[in-house]
Amino acid sequence: MSNDERTFIAIKPDGVARGLVGEIISRFQRKGYTLVGLKQVVPSKDLAESHYEEHKERPFFSGLVSFITSGPVVAMVWEGKGSIAMARAMIGATNPLASAPGTIRGDFGVDVGRNIIHGSDSADSAKREIALWFKSCELLTEVVRSSNLYV
Ligand code: TYD
Ligand code: MG
Repeated sequence: MSNDERTFIAIKPDGVARGLVGEIISRFQRKGYTLVGLKQVVPSKDLAESHYEEHKERPFFSGLVSFITSGPVVAMVWEGKGSIAMARAMIGATNPLASAPGTIRGDFGVDVGRNIIHGSDSADSAKREIALWFKSCELLTEVVRSSNLYV
């Protein structure tokens, strides 16, 4: 498992509007991950549809796209050992009511359509989503890590 594994995380418009950006960034920092990309954008319909293309036949797709394009999203890339799976664990289940307390969705959400945050679900998704949301020049290349984090 590499120390430079990267995952794509997006705080959705509900999370931004509810003032959860600092709380969420703090959780990933305290875990030991490094922020290597960060921007706030109102996603275009094209970007939102590409991001969620695996769900395009699902009944919730159009509502999901209109929600995600309805306001600012904080898009991030986080780096560190096991970051893809660990971020999903820290985020919790898709339905906030099924997410354990202690997870982001479990602590802050109640509705599946307003579940605060997105995280890549696999190495392939992370690669695809990072390339979709960020130019390579917007990401740090050399990352200085705390010597207390890794053996
Ligand atoms: P999905 O990829 O299944 O969940 P996750 O975000 O945990 O990877 O679904 C993408 C988003 O679609 C999900 O975060 C919220 C929305 N969604 C609904 O609005 N209704 C639903 O029934 C499902 C399954 C998802
Ligand atoms: Mg998903």
